[in-house]
Amino acid sequence: MKFRTIACGRPLKLVVIGAGSMGRGWIDTVRRNPDCELAGIADINLDAARDAATGTGSPDLPAGTGAPELPVGTDGVELAQQVGADAVVDVTIPSQHYPVTVKALEAGLPVLGEKPVAATIAESLSLAATAERTGELFMVSQSRRYNPHVFALKDKISALGDTGIVNTQFYKAPRFGGFREEMDHVLLIDMAIHPFDTVRFLLDADPVSVTAEEFNPAWSWYRGSATASVSFTMTGGIKYLYQGSWCSPGFETSWNGQWRVSGSNGSALWDGDNDPAADVAGVDSGTAGNGAVSGTTVAEPASMYDSPNVSIAGSLAQFVSALRSGETPLGEVHENIMSLVMVEAAVRASTTDSRVYIDDVLDEAHRAAIEQESHPETREILASWTSVRGALAGLPQQARAREAPAG
Ligand SMILES: NC(=O)c1ccc[n+]([C@@H]2O[C@H](COP(=O)([O-])OP(=O)(O)OC[C@H]3O[C@@H](n4cnc5c(N)ncnc54)[C@H](O)[C@@H]3O)[C@@H](O)[C@H]2O)c1
Repeated sequence: MKFRTIACGRPLKLVVIGAGSMGRGWIDTVRRNPDCELAGIADINLDAARDAATGTGSPDLPAGTGAPELPVGTDGVELAQQVGADAVVDVTIPSQHYPVTVKALEAGLPVLGEKPVAATIAESLSLAATAERTGELFMVSQSRRYNPHVFALKDKISALGDTGIVNTQFYKAPRFGGFREEMDHVLLIDMAIHPFDTVRFLLDADPVSVTAEEFNPAWSWYRGSATASVSFTMTGGIKYLYQGSWCSPGFETSWNGQWRVSGSNGSALWDGDNDPAADVAGVDSGTAGNGAVSGTTVAEPASMYDSPNVSIAGSLAQFVSALRSGETPLGEVHENIMSLVMVEAAVRASTTDSRVYIDDVLDEAHRAAIEQESHPETREILASWTSVRGALAGLPQQARAREAPAG
């Protein structure tokens, strides 16, 4: 999607909306980026915004080194307009992503939003159409993509021939307390979006259908299901198998999970924390750390390998660069929505004990988005999408009807 760029020779002025635990991280990240200026902090809880401005409770910021004079407010978009911000960073809770983003885009403010794109797929589709209508950039920060090992693994996969199977194993035992221990489908909704998004990036593939089973071991300290086995068929017929648990103490995996990719010429392994390894037919292999078998890769390292901007610092750097250059960033709203679709489809497959087809989920959400949309032009844009899959892939209108998943 083409979007408005910002040509100015000064750092971009950003307002961070939402000063909760993740918002604090974003505030520090904006402060550290030399191409950004923190222009204000908003939170419906004004004390949270004030505390974040002064650095109260921030372990990184010694007392007295914050910015008590920094503008704060309860409405992020109004604050951004008052201080002449160039864009906003939305770190509010998922249910607020839709109203905050619509208001910002309509005010002519590009948005860098935390995942998930919105609370529902229907809202997400409306946000993509609102971005088209306003011509403003809406990028979703999927921070785990900004990891040099993920780029290296993608590179190694390209040497494996035809990819057949991708496997992620995720076993951890965090004691979060609070809302996570009470919510439904906690692992799939709160955590699995990260590997689901990563697999789309690694394979340049999208989901076609899914089966899933969730369960909760007797010893689990979560009310909702803390473990899940999910099997996706991706475009190209690739199988993606995810096995995860949030209540499995002992031999815990990385927060990124443990990955195996199997192709026609070999396999790649990634333990989630260190460099991935590949064992490709015809290439001498040895043993790498963590028991992984290492081979040789063919491609040159991409620029991301050496980038200091990992995690949310990487998202921020790419957002700023996109606003300057007009180049579509990773996580542009259209591109990101399928990651949320994978979560919703997996939950549906588990609760209905059936194979769920992604196009059915998309079509249902598309109908709901058109029905719920109050802005006539946004509704018209949504209604013009003859294929949601095609619209999300950024295909021109005439090509959309032909876009059918091969899986
Ligand atoms: N990328 C990651 O690894 C990662 C990790 C944790 C959280 N997140 C995401 O970050 C977002 C925030 O999560 P969190 O853990 O910081 O939540 P949180 O509850 O700690 O903080 C949210 C803050 O937003 C404020 N808020 C709510 N609605 C608002 C509105 N309309 N305007 C202004 N402020 C508003 C709340 O008062 C609160 O201070 C969520 O979308 C979550 O999924 C991402």
